[in-house]
Amino acid sequence: MTDAAPDGLAARLRAQLADRLAETGLLRSGVWRAAVMAVPREVFVPAFFRRSDGPQGTVWTPATPATETSGAWLEEVYADETLVTQLDGGVHPGDVDGPVSGDPTSSSTLPGLVVRMLEDLDPKDGARVLEIGTGTGYSTALMCHRLGSDHVTSIEYDPATAASARTAIATAGYSPRLIQSDGLQGDDDGAPYDHLIATCSVRTIPPAWLHQVKPGGTILTTVSGWLHGSGLARLSVGEDGTAFGTFLPGTVSFMIARPHAAPDLGDFSSLLRQPAEERPAHHGPEVFRDWVPLFLTQLAAPKAQGISTRLDGGPWLAHTIDVGSGSFATLVPGEDSGSGFRVRQGGPHRLWDDVEAAVDAWKAAGSPPQTAFTLTITPTEQRVRLNTPEGPSWTLPT
Ligand SMILES: C[S@@+](CC[C@H](N)C(=O)[O-])C[C@H]1O[C@@H](n2cnc3c(N)ncnc32)[C@H](O)[C@@H]1O
Repeated sequence: MTDAAPDGLAARLRAQLADRLAETGLLRSGVWRAAVMAVPREVFVPAFFRRSDGPQGTVWTPATPATETSGAWLEEVYADETLVTQLDGGVHPGDVDGPVSGDPTSSSTLPGLVVRMLEDLDPKDGARVLEIGTGTGYSTALMCHRLGSDHVTSIEYDPATAASARTAIATAGYSPRLIQSDGLQGDDDGAPYDHLIATCSVRTIPPAWLHQVKPGGTILTTVSGWLHGSGLARLSVGEDGTAFGTFLPGTVSFMIARPHAAPDLGDFSSLLRQPAEERPAHHGPEVFRDWVPLFLTQLAAPKAQGISTRLDGGPWLAHTIDVGSGSFATLVPGEDSGSGFRVRQGGPHRLWDDVEAAVDAWKAAGSPPQTAFTLTITPTEQRVRLNTPEGPSWTLPT
């Protein structure tokens, strides 16, 4: 292991980070504390983008250290923050001179979340772990410290990210098995694994994962989708492609696995001009703002995407669009409903009817937290269920 700060500042900041994560309950065990104390995060984020949100939207400013041992730089690196390292699948901090817009496609996840997930995964001595989404390699290195490099395999989709992670992990003194490929296919050669942890999210659990983790082993992953609802699921793997588990507490989200990304909406204006039925809406755009309702909205409309438009200074309209089936629901301000909105629905599916039915069933059950939802996987379907008597259920998209 290397320590980039000769004066020991980095080591002190690691200890402070570990203390903060322990105080908040995210870091719960001595073994993971030892890993946080040992792995130099600055090696994994030699440059990143700083985020700022303004009237023109979000912009990203490249941040590179004057010297990698400078105190201010190290303090930023050891904050419990996500550090974005790539935009739009190929733009890195060294590629630009000033602020740019773009969508994050790789990052060093905030250490608190990484550690909390490792605690949730709880691999014992000798366990072998497959990680999907190497990213910068920081989480990979934590696992190498805890389990030994020969017990860790990590897969990264993006070639440039995989190459940087390989260098950083070696610099930090670890030597796990690193693969650059699509993690949704897992790693047949190294299977069976005791555990699989994904630091990108999936719309549906890839069948390969179910066969590459031993029966009794664990899959820890966020389940998300094109409406950006998300939930962290911990599954216990059964025989023959089955698994069962629950959603864990917290508002956990990750960037979606690249092959699961939403298709381009294209020119949806003609779709919105289709004949439509209009009625008062029981629920308005607030369902997109609240964590569990957004998760339910996505379960109810799993192939839909959301977008807002505004015409000639008029009100913002929230559209839910399923380009595959040509269905849409548009929320329009309207006084004659409790929600303050009317909904226009067109195409073969009444998307908002399904969304409202899901949110109403959840409210009727007492608006339970996300931990009340289970995920059951069989070879033929993946079903999320609200775990109440006669709780409703929804299948994840295939
Ligand atoms: C949030 S970052 C990972 C953070 C990382 N664990 C760390 O500590 O730095 C998510 C990563 O998942 C990668 N990714 C996306 N889809 C993937 C896939 N199908 N297979 C493997 N990696 C994928 C992205 O390229 C990105 O680097």
